[in-house]
Amino acid sequence: MGAEIGEFLSLDDFERHALAVLPTMPRDYYRSGAWAETTLAENRAAWDRLRIWYRVMRDVALRTSRAELMGRNAAMPLCVAPTALQRMAHPDGELATARAAAGAGVPMILSSLSSTSVEEVRAAATSVDPAARTWMQMYIGRDRGAVRALAQRAHAAGCDALVLTVDTPVWGIRERDIRNHFRVPDGMRIVHLERAGGPSGHEGRGIHEALAWTIDASLTWKDFEWLRDSSPLPVILKGICRAEDAARGVELGAQGILVSNHGGRQLDGAPATVDALPHCVDAVAGRVPVLVDGGVRRGTDVLRALALGAQAVCVGRPVLWGLAAGGEAGVARVLEILAHEFDVTLALAGCQCVSDVTSDLLRP
Ligand code: FNR
Ligand code: LAC
Repeated sequence: MGAEIGEFLSLDDFERHALAVLPTMPRDYYRSGAWAETTLAENRAAWDRLRIWYRVMRDVALRTSRAELMGRNAAMPLCVAPTALQRMAHPDGELATARAAAGAGVPMILSSLSSTSVEEVRAAATSVDPAARTWMQMYIGRDRGAVRALAQRAHAAGCDALVLTVDTPVWGIRERDIRNHFRVPDGMRIVHLERAGGPSGHEGRGIHEALAWTIDASLTWKDFEWLRDSSPLPVILKGICRAEDAARGVELGAQGILVSNHGGRQLDGAPATVDALPHCVDAVAGRVPVLVDGGVRRGTDVLRALALGAQAVCVGRPVLWGLAAGGEAGVARVLEILAHEFDVTLALAGCQCVSDVTSDLLRP
């Protein structure tokens, strides 16, 4: 397996391999988009439509991918997106991801629906790099006490931001999961939210049944204000599509906006995130960082996102494919490929550093 990973050249190689080796239920859960998967496909296709008008003769012999990311420095403008139940991809699950992200010098966003606790994930990350950053993703479920307790746990464990996902009043319908009767596998737990005698996710046909108890359709901006006041940590809003929602979030105290459609898993028919991004960047007007995820698979996509005004990108599924191919080593290789591709992209576009990546690279 190890030798194989060394030969993978692209994130697509990892995807092909993972789709071949993973059992049906986790494979389909990870890959799926909602309904006809139009937005899932569009997320990816939209990056490819942007042409990069490269500069020449700029002396790119010395260059760096280092970037400011939410007020601190990162090895590159990238973070790991939160994805649930990573132990379905590899027994080490979130611990492997945490070590690989720390090794790569980029933050990891831990899903609140993880199969490993935030304390264990922080210990794994800081064992590799004491300065490693972990952000805790949150859903606001009906049990507000449990939400507040998790926010406090994340802070105590050393997380430095909360990422509140707001595109999920109900779960999107992923038809493959329904056919497979997807539920939390035996021997795995939604460690942060399960309570003795309460729902556990071990029953149902798809997460819209198995995990309905983890979210709340009545959410409004008031709940965001409540979370903001419940924790000293900065809150990043994840799942923003419209300019007015980005602006509202910033006005109410969001410290970052993550333009995302949940990897095409919620509202099918939503625009590709690359199409939503410029509207949100305009509305935020530099007040807080704007991040974007969805279909980022190449170093060229990272440059495209920056040229559109994003501070950084997040990647979701490629990390799961890395886990499936080889645990920590697989995720490390996925992140290494992206870092290398971004470095080469900078050089070929005539940029020495991320501040050279400006909008004219897409619109000369
Ligand atoms: C997700 N995503 C997600 N988002 C979130 O806020 N909390 C979560 O628990 C999860 N879980 C999850 C599981 C799986 C299997 C996938 C594929 C996605 C969404 C994720 O954070 C991110 O927005 C997308 O995955 C980004 O798109 P790409 O990079 O997968 O194309
Ligand atoms: C998903 C959830 C867990 O997209 O966010 O499956």
